[in-house]
Amino acid sequence: MMEYFQKTQQAFEKYRAEGGLLLGIESSCDETAAAVLRGGREVLSMAVHTQIPIHRLYGGVVPEIASRSHTERITAVTEEALNKAGVTLGDIAAVAVTSEPGLIGALLVGVSFAKGLALAGEKPLIGVNHIEGHIAANYLTYPDLEPPFMCLVASGGHSHIVLVKDYDEFELVGRTRDDAAGEAFDKVARALGLPYPGGPEVEKLAREGNKHAFPLHTPFNSDTSNFDFSFSGVKTAVVNLLHNARQKGEELDKADLAASFQHSVVETLTKKAVAAALERGMGTLALAGGVSANTALRNSLERACRKAGLRFCRPDMRFCTDNAAMIACQGHYRMLKGARSDLDLNPSAESFLSK
Ligand code: KG4
Ligand code: ZN
Repeated sequence: MMEYFQKTQQAFEKYRAEGGLLLGIESSCDETAAAVLRGGREVLSMAVHTQIPIHRLYGGVVPEIASRSHTERITAVTEEALNKAGVTLGDIAAVAVTSEPGLIGALLVGVSFAKGLALAGEKPLIGVNHIEGHIAANYLTYPDLEPPFMCLVASGGHSHIVLVKDYDEFELVGRTRDDAAGEAFDKVARALGLPYPGGPEVEKLAREGNKHAFPLHTPFNSDTSNFDFSFSGVKTAVVNLLHNARQKGEELDKADLAASFQHSVVETLTKKAVAAALERGMGTLALAGGVSANTALRNSLERACRKAGLRFCRPDMRFCTDNAAMIACQGHYRMLKGARSDLDLNPSAESFLSK
């Protein structure tokens, strides 16, 4: 182990001084992904194998099935990324891999694979926090974006308002007290009889509905004197409305319900994130995580930021949901700050930025 670390020290220093090709690997949940970047921000290729059709059969992610599918696909996905970039493994200068947070078995597949590549190819290795990766998706979209800025991270497992002080320095400013935004979308979708993952399905249905049909706002979520929020109550309100109507033999308009639920989540996230950015004197508010693919949320934040005099950043659609380019980007900045991992790198299900 000692030997690997020493052997690759020179390559690590060379990468920090000159840059080079960086291979990113992501396997924290239900996407197996690889990407090749030149330096921190130039994406040469991306490859993603999504397991959504497999997990859809069960209404959500089944951890054991996810791990097995990652194992089956990770080599082919990595080869695809290398081929698309027109490079070989020998050209890669360093390897970045998601090491936390996520499903432990799923993370293990990516981390073990990346360690194997790093050891065999004598390349420096960097473990990357998935949430930080989501934030870094904004660097890939805006070449000039630099910390500090405020970032709203809304994904399936996490909903945080994070002050990005530097590329490797974060302060949690607000968080969900219960369900993550994506998780609430997924649960409401299930109650409405829509397939997994629920976010895109609810968004589609919401387009046909009246967002003012069911007022679902709570005083806690409207209060901008603190930056925490809660989605469990809103989710339960939707479920109760459906149950009560069914008991009376009535059917509610599902599109109206979807639109009203989405409106409540979007309003909450927009108000809290903009208030947090202003309170901390930030000029920029960024959006990140799988829920950043939601057009209503993107539009609402854009409008609110314009009104508040803030610059608004959100990832290109291809960088919103899980991918390896964002992991490589964050790995790049971590390495520039002097961080690197040894072969004892272990995945962790939770992390500083996790719920
Ligand atoms: O970041 P991500 O790909 O995985 C995690 O790190 O959790 O986020 C997935 C989450 C799911 O809950 C999914 O329903 C949600 O993001 N999502 C959306 C949309 N697209 C994905 N939620 C609302 N609207 C969308 N268009
Ligand atoms: Zn994610």
